[in-house]
Amino acid sequence: MSADPVPLIEVQQVTRRYALARQGLWEPRRQLTALDQVSLTVHAGRTLGVVGESGSGKSTLTRCLLGLEPVDGGRILYRGQDIAVHDARGRRGHTARMQVVFQDPNASMNPRMSVHDIIAEGMVIHQRELGLDGPARSAQVLELLGHVGLGRDHLHRYPHELSGGQRQRVCIARALALKPECLILDEPTSALDVSVQAQVLNLLHEMQQTFGLTYLFVSHDLAVVRYLCDDVVVLRGGKVVEGGPAEQVFTSPQDDYTRALIAAMPEVAF
Ligand SMILES: Nc1ncnc2c1ncn2[C@@H]1O[C@H](COP(=O)(O)OP(=O)(O)OP(=O)(O)O)[C@@H](O)[C@H]1O
Ligand SMILES: [Mg+2]
Repeated sequence: MSADPVPLIEVQQVTRRYALARQGLWEPRRQLTALDQVSLTVHAGRTLGVVGESGSGKSTLTRCLLGLEPVDGGRILYRGQDIAVHDARGRRGHTARMQVVFQDPNASMNPRMSVHDIIAEGMVIHQRELGLDGPARSAQVLELLGHVGLGRDHLHRYPHELSGGQRQRVCIARALALKPECLILDEPTSALDVSVQAQVLNLLHEMQQTFGLTYLFVSHDLAVVRYLCDDVVVLRGGKVVEGGPAEQVFTSPQDDYTRALIAAMPEVAF
């Protein structure tokens, strides 16, 4: 951890609203503010934990960061550049540098694709920039599988022929395939068995060391956040109520809501 961390992502006063359906024909359209002037910084090579109860805006934030949804106010800078002003090529570059692992590996994998094809898909899409032919891609897929603790034996299997933990390993390998700088991890272990959770968390930690990755880690599990994250922000109702180095937030929380979250934390020994 460097003494003077470099900001990789800067979220500056970002607001995101969703239009809700009218309750009656003559009723005005209502809006829900999912993110309300959210500001935070993700430092290069570090892990920022985003915690908050269900509906607090965590996944909305990740979708805005990935450029999957526009923001209604504020801006998101990646290495100092506003991601909203990218042209098509810039957007492709942005999606390659920032990859995502979702909560549910089943929902994020095409059941009709083999493990090989799932991991290679991004490399095919970005073929021109990567300059890899078929055999070179397959060699990389095998290497990536090795990194996540799987092997040749899993290459031609389909998602339903894998365990939950193995599926999430495939998703991590897929996320690493484009050599990203940053991984967005949206509750990556909450669909897994407790014993498998620890293995996947250790794997993520190992991958961060090996590839010098920056993580934005979304979780409602504070014990996991404390274990994995350097910095934390607490979201409530779309607003940041507290943020800072993880140790500081956990040992001397300033906000009542953070205190309540910590008080509700089960004692877990890692
Ligand atoms: N497409 C949408 N249209 C309307 N409202 C939405 C949409 N997506 C999210 N919301 C609302 O925005 C708020 C934030 O949702 P979000 O999914 O970001 O929460 P979350 O913190 O990820 O929750 P969870 O922990 O349950 O995953 C919620 O009130 C949700 O109902
Ligand atoms: Mg969510």
